[in-house]
Amino acid sequence: MPHRAPGSTGKTRQQFLSGKPIRYYRPRGSADIRHLIDEGFQAFNAARLGEACRIFTDKMLLPEHDTTIALTIAGALTPAGLGGCIVEMMERGLIDFLISTGANLYHDLHYALNFTLHRGSPFVNDVELYEQGVIRIYDVLFPSSVLLETDAYIRDFLVRSGMNGPVSTAEFHYALGRDLMARQPGCEAYSVVAAAAAAGVPIYTSSPGDSSIGMNIAYHELMNDSRLMIDPNKDVNEVCAFILAGKKNGCVILGGGSPKNFYLQGQPTLWEVYGIPKGGNDYFIQLTTDQVVWGGLSGATPAEAVSWGKVNPAVLPDTVVAYCDSTIAFPLFCEYAVGSTHSRRPLKELVHKREALVEQLRVEARNAVRTHPEPAEKTETMPDLERHR
Ligand SMILES: NC(=O)c1ccc[n+]([C@@H]2O[C@H](COP(=O)([O-])OP(=O)(O)OC[C@H]3O[C@@H](n4cnc5c(N)ncnc54)[C@H](O)[C@@H]3O)[C@@H](O)[C@H]2O)c1
Repeated sequence: MPHRAPGSTGKTRQQFLSGKPIRYYRPRGSADIRHLIDEGFQAFNAARLGEACRIFTDKMLLPEHDTTIALTIAGALTPAGLGGCIVEMMERGLIDFLISTGANLYHDLHYALNFTLHRGSPFVNDVELYEQGVIRIYDVLFPSSVLLETDAYIRDFLVRSGMNGPVSTAEFHYALGRDLMARQPGCEAYSVVAAAAAAGVPIYTSSPGDSSIGMNIAYHELMNDSRLMIDPNKDVNEVCAFILAGKKNGCVILGGGSPKNFYLQGQPTLWEVYGIPKGGNDYFIQLTTDQVVWGGLSGATPAEAVSWGKVNPAVLPDTVVAYCDSTIAFPLFCEYAVGSTHSRRPLKELVHKREALVEQLRVEARNAVRTHPEPAEKTETMPDLERHR
């Protein structure tokens, strides 16, 4: 229920779309924000956010730890202008791979293609918006032509790309990012998909059919007889291979949803399916509005994740959940990181190493089968999850 009555009716389309354009905000490492977080955020979730910032900058980013860092995003973050934070983090090598809902990637394309989303109000009459062809994501407003033209671009890209077989979502998004850079030179400065391709950061989508990108891929199959197929098996193995190759592993989870599990299932896939006792994550940061009491995955704590082998039991102090709206917390988190001592790391460029790392996974999995040829005995305790390196 709105906590304020809808504004006066009778607004024109132009009036609905008169708000300032939403631009991607790029964090600059503000010393004032670092001061606020270190000295002002002293209790409750402010303190948890401070803890998250310090785990990230003082541990995950330490050069000697060489942590492989995943960012997972759910919730409408790119429509709200948070893509700039992700671009900045990727360019600086502070994120090695990304797992996103399809929606965040689809809406990022509007920015890449120079369409405008506007600041607005959530207290508007949606029937009027519908009649005037204005789309609303809470308080973000834009004309429906933005959707139609973005869809037309995707379909055109699909034909031009020549992709006609099974691909991982990382391969798909890399090709899309390259195409955006060719069509809109310089857009890697303001598009997550393009910036990821430029920095060699693989982007995965845990439910590829669940967004307008997936909807247009379905069109391409039905109308153009295309054999392009998003292959989730490739995604599962590539993410596992990155985790296996990581010296240390850590994640920053925004919201929750399927991207959260898609990342966290990597360790269980290694021990439970491939028999490789890699051990759980070394670092776990989540900024979310989800509560643990509903029993859902999105609200599940790092402590619960230990029971699944997703988080290394020895590192619980290096895990934190800050219960915050990520549209507020993530820009603050990024300002803190960009202003920190190790605010640049060499780019891992994992998008170009996918095949080699999956091959390494295959070799280790075959060795594990040779070492333990019999099916694991039924046991009431977890297998030895101590690191084997
Ligand atoms: N046209 C499109 O392409 C389109 C548009 C919208 C949604 N979708 C699809 O719908 C699905 C759901 O979308 P979603 O990403 O909004 O997921 P969601 O609403 O299920 O949110 C995911 C999780 O993040 C948390 N969350 C959401 N906003 C948050 C915030 N501001 N701060 C902290 N936590 C927050 C939620 O509590 C939830 O657990 C996705 O699979 C998406 O791809 C597609």
